[in-house]
Amino acid sequence: MNSIITLDEFIIKRQKDFPYASGELTGLLRDIGIAAKIVNREVNKAGLVNILGIADQQNASGDTVQKLDIYANEKFISCLKNSGECAGISSEENEDFVSFPNVESKSSKYIVVFDPLDGSSNIDVNVSVGTIFGIYRRISDPNGPCTLEDFLQKGTEQVAAGYVLYGTSTLLVYTTGRGVNGFTLDPSIGEFCLSHRDIQIPKRGNYYAVNQGYYLKFDVEIRRLIDHYSDKNLGLRYIGSMVADIHRILFQGGIFLYPNTRKYPYGKLRLSYELNPLSFIVEQAGGKAMTCQLERIMEVELKELHQRNTIAIGSPDMVDEMKQFVERYSAVAMM
Ligand code: AHG
Repeated sequence: MNSIITLDEFIIKRQKDFPYASGELTGLLRDIGIAAKIVNREVNKAGLVNILGIADQQNASGDTVQKLDIYANEKFISCLKNSGECAGISSEENEDFVSFPNVESKSSKYIVVFDPLDGSSNIDVNVSVGTIFGIYRRISDPNGPCTLEDFLQKGTEQVAAGYVLYGTSTLLVYTTGRGVNGFTLDPSIGEFCLSHRDIQIPKRGNYYAVNQGYYLKFDVEIRRLIDHYSDKNLGLRYIGSMVADIHRILFQGGIFLYPNTRKYPYGKLRLSYELNPLSFIVEQAGGKAMTCQLERIMEVELKELHQRNTIAIGSPDMVDEMKQFVERYSAVAMM
């Protein structure tokens, strides 16, 4: 029988790789695992109780909020607040960042950014949704509350990032900058168990993911790229939950695109909560992530908490190909 390695055991084992680690990051990752289990329980029974559907409010980015978004947001905040290992959080569902006032939290080295339930428009129809998180070392004075500058660090400053996919099975995938590992929740023992060691993204894939309904609203270079995929007989797969699309691409290869449209001139997705953490994971797995204006995602300057950016992310050869199309056709458009 293969021996099972749980998420907790794995995290503790990895801590030994960092001789001066204090255990704070280890504790934080474990707390995120606990919050994920609590949210997973509610996602799984969502059809059974009156928790599905749209709540009567909008989030900070102006999107309609689902009830489960609120639930997941509250659970993640309370788990992180009670842990004492996190100085504060910034969530896609909150207008502003939250600084935790308790003594242990205030002196913590880390802050966490997260999207508690990405793809929430899929909840009502039983399609996969996910949680995305990024962890940063705070740069403000550890003797006081955390500040806005802690949350406006570039993606390159992340010390860890991950996602939880609430799908046919529930998976937690994370990186601390030394490769990417995936853990599947075993409901019989209530533990995330190591199931995907050292994930490597294929150099190319047979699928692309984009909301092709916006085709006519994309710039010419992106339209030509999509035409090229069609010429090459690539398949289109688009779930509407970025976590689920990225999860497939990590294992099967491919590219995910969310370019600028007339409605979203800077792209729709949020740099802090979605793009930076997923880019850290994909790069650690050997992939690439850049804006459709060809800037590496993790180097984009974050000027405000809910900033949106465009993205092309996935297999390295396919992101390079996107770059070539942008260089070639945007130059033609300018002539
Ligand atoms: P939300 O969490 O508000 O449902 O947004 C989901 C995100 C992302 O996960 C997905 O890829 C994208 O928005 C879908 O947007 P479009 O419907 O515009 O394609």
